[in-house]
Amino acid sequence: MQTDKKTLFSAAQPSGVPTLGNYLGAIKNWVMLQDEYNCIYSIADLHCLTVRREPKELRAKSLELLALYIACGVDPEKSCLFMQSHVPAHAELTWILNTLAYPGELGRMTQFKDKSKKHADNVNMGLMDYPVLMAADILLYGADVVPIGVDQKQHLELTRDLAIRFNNRYSETFVVPEPIIPGIGAKIMSLQDPERKMSKSDPNENSYVSLLDDEETVIRKFKRAVTDSDNSIRFSADKPGISNLITIYSAVTGENISCTEEKFAGKGYGEFKIAVGETVAAAIAPVRKKTLELLSDKAYLDEVMKNGADRAGYLANKTLSKVYRKVGLYSPERKK
Ligand code: TRP
Repeated sequence: MQTDKKTLFSAAQPSGVPTLGNYLGAIKNWVMLQDEYNCIYSIADLHCLTVRREPKELRAKSLELLALYIACGVDPEKSCLFMQSHVPAHAELTWILNTLAYPGELGRMTQFKDKSKKHADNVNMGLMDYPVLMAADILLYGADVVPIGVDQKQHLELTRDLAIRFNNRYSETFVVPEPIIPGIGAKIMSLQDPERKMSKSDPNENSYVSLLDDEETVIRKFKRAVTDSDNSIRFSADKPGISNLITIYSAVTGENISCTEEKFAGKGYGEFKIAVGETVAAAIAPVRKKTLELLSDKAYLDEVMKNGADRAGYLANKTLSKVYRKVGLYSPERKK
């Protein structure tokens, strides 16, 4: 890794097949940022355990997400790509940071409160500690910047607080990271309820496009997208459905919003929905194909994972030893 570049860390949970929303909002950015930064990307499988998962499914989804990232253009030669659980330092640093984190501040986290309601039968310590594990992820690599969605902003603030708290108590150790939050255009809404974010956990499959949907499915989902009855293709706050489709079309083609409006001026919704569907289908077809190809070469994926864990582990352990020393954990002298 080159040292003249800043370090960037990000991670995603292997909780399901990413959607078009995840692609346009996050994954595309991960790919783009690879030249500008030393990028470290992790599959947050430990975070995933904070809600109940079918073990077999978690394993399969983790591998699938790794393949998907590579298929989307995350280059394992350029960036460090690894599974969080393969680098034990993440859990180890979490323990140390736990001694600086207060139950009050963790209990106040919006996501903790939301998830506690949603999974009322399984409010476990891991769910509450989720943001501390996230802080460990980031601080282990001295990340300068962290691309995240708005929903994770509060967690990044906690990461900064913990870093500053540690530095004040034990002397300067951690880099205090800055968030990178993608622009508004990147927020993709549900195709069935355009007031809500597109989400892979939505029980209505027509509400989201998965990156592994085939062409026909993608087009069908766009044909069924909920719009208004005004039949004019115009971006406007009171037309959330059609505005969402305009956003999607513009994000995929790289054209701006007014360009898209002009292109479809005078056309009907039916025609526009098919155009959006076909454009999206064409954009994700190669991703789907490449992902399936990669998934049939498990030896390659295992190799990528192992290399990633070696590289990440080397960096993470350097930070962890420093932390252990600073807090006063005894370590025997090593013979040279
Ligand atoms: N919690 C993040 C999410 O659900 C995933 C994540 C885990 C993460 N560790 C991270 C993101 C560290 C940024 C940095 O989106």
